[in-house]
Amino acid sequence: MADRRFRAWLPLVALYAFWVSVGQAVSGQEPLKGVVEARGYNAGESIPVSCLNRTIETGEHITDASGQLQYIPFPTCNETGRPLELFFGIEKDINCTLDFISDPFFHLLEFYIHNDAPLTCRIPSAPLPPSVLEHEYRVADSTSQEGALGTQSNLYTPLIIALAGTLQLSHLHVGNSLNLLVHAVPKSISSGKIDAATAYSVSPHTRNARVTIGDSLSLSFSVRWYPSTTLPPGWSGYGGHLYKSTFLYCLLSAGASAAICVAYFRGVDLPRRLRRYARDMKGGSRTPGGYGLPVANGRGGGYGGYGIGVGGGSGKKD
Ligand SMILES: *[C@@H]1O[C@H](CO)[C@@H](O)[C@H](O)[C@H]1NC(C)=O
Ligand SMILES: *[C@@H]1O[C@H](CO)[C@@H](O)[C@H](O)[C@H]1NC(C)=O
Ligand SMILES: *[C@@H]1O[C@H](CO)[C@@H](O)[C@H](O)[C@H]1NC(C)=O
Repeated sequence: MADRRFRAWLPLVALYAFWVSVGQAVSGQEPLKGVVEARGYNAGESIPVSCLNRTIETGEHITDASGQLQYIPFPTCNETGRPLELFFGIEKDINCTLDFISDPFFHLLEFYIHNDAPLTCRIPSAPLPPSVLEHEYRVADSTSQEGALGTQSNLYTPLIIALAGTLQLSHLHVGNSLNLLVHAVPKSISSGKIDAATAYSVSPHTRNARVTIGDSLSLSFSVRWYPSTTLPPGWSGYGGHLYKSTFLYCLLSAGASAAICVAYFRGVDLPRRLRRYARDMKGGSRTPGGYGLPVANGRGGGYGGYGIGVGGGSGKKD
C-alpha cells in the first residue's frame, strides 16, 4: 500500500531532484564564474583590512538586522591617515599608530589580550567587484552573505591578528611587534589572489607597549608574502656561528681520531706485528700460515698445515 503510493510519487521526486540540481548548477555556477573571472591584484595594489565589530560588554561579534557579521575598517593609522592596508606582494615593515585608545577600544583590547575573543579581521582575496564595495560597510546589508566568515563565500580571506600581552589592573601591555604572513594562490592556479593570512605578536614580554585609556598604541607589522601555500623551510640551526663551530668541531674530532689511529698503529700494533713476524720466521718455515700464533710445531704434514691455520685463526679471535 505504502509502497504503491511511493511508486506513484517517484516520477515527481525524480523531477524535483532534477529541478533542484539544475537550480543548483545555475545558482552555484554564476557566483563561481564571477569569482574566477574577477581580476587578481596587481603587484603593489593596496588591500584594505577590516575587522569584526564586537560589543564591549562581552566581546561578542555584532550582527546586523539580517544576521550578518558586521565588519568595520581597521582603526585609522596615524602614519597614513587611513585604516591599515597591505600591498600585494610588498614585503615591508608597516607602522600603524592608533592615535587615541578610546574606552570601548581599550575594553576590546582587554578581550583580545585575555583571549576572550580574537581580533578577527579579513582581507579581500581579490579586488572586490564594485557591487560588493558599495555595500561593504553598510550595517543593514540585506541579503548578501558576502565574505562573512563561516560562509561559503571566498571573496575574503580571514586574517586573525593574534595579539599577545599581559593584563594589569589599570593598564595593558600589548605585544606590538607583529609578524604578518600572507600566502598568495600559486600563480599556476590564479594570479594575484590571496589564499591565507595570519598575524601574531612576537616577543610580547619584551616588545610591548603599555596602554591605558587615552594613550596611543603603535603597532609594527613585519609583512612577508609567500607565492604559494607552503612555507619555505626556515630552520638551519641557531644561526651561522653555531653552525660553523659545529662544522669545525666535527673536523677537529675527525682529525684527532685519525691521529689516535695512526699513533696506535705505529706505537702498538706495528711493533706487535713485527714481533709476531720475527717469531714466526724463527719458529719455522710455515710463513704463509702466519696468522696462527701459538701453534708452533703442530702435527706437521700436508693436511696439518690446514688444521694449524684454522686453529690459529680462532685463537686470534679470542
Ligand atoms: C560597532 O558596534 C557598536 C555597537 O553596536 C556601534 O555603536 C558602532 O558604531 C559600531 N562601529 C562601527 C564602526 O560601525
Ligand atoms: C616604525 O617605528 C619604529 C619605532 O617606532 C622605527 O624605528 C621604524 O623606523 C619605523 N618604521 C617605519 C617603516 O616607519
Ligand atoms: C597623530 O597625528 C596627529 C595629526 O597629524 C598629531 O597631532 C598626533 O600627535 C599624532 N599622534 C601620534 C601618536 O603620533
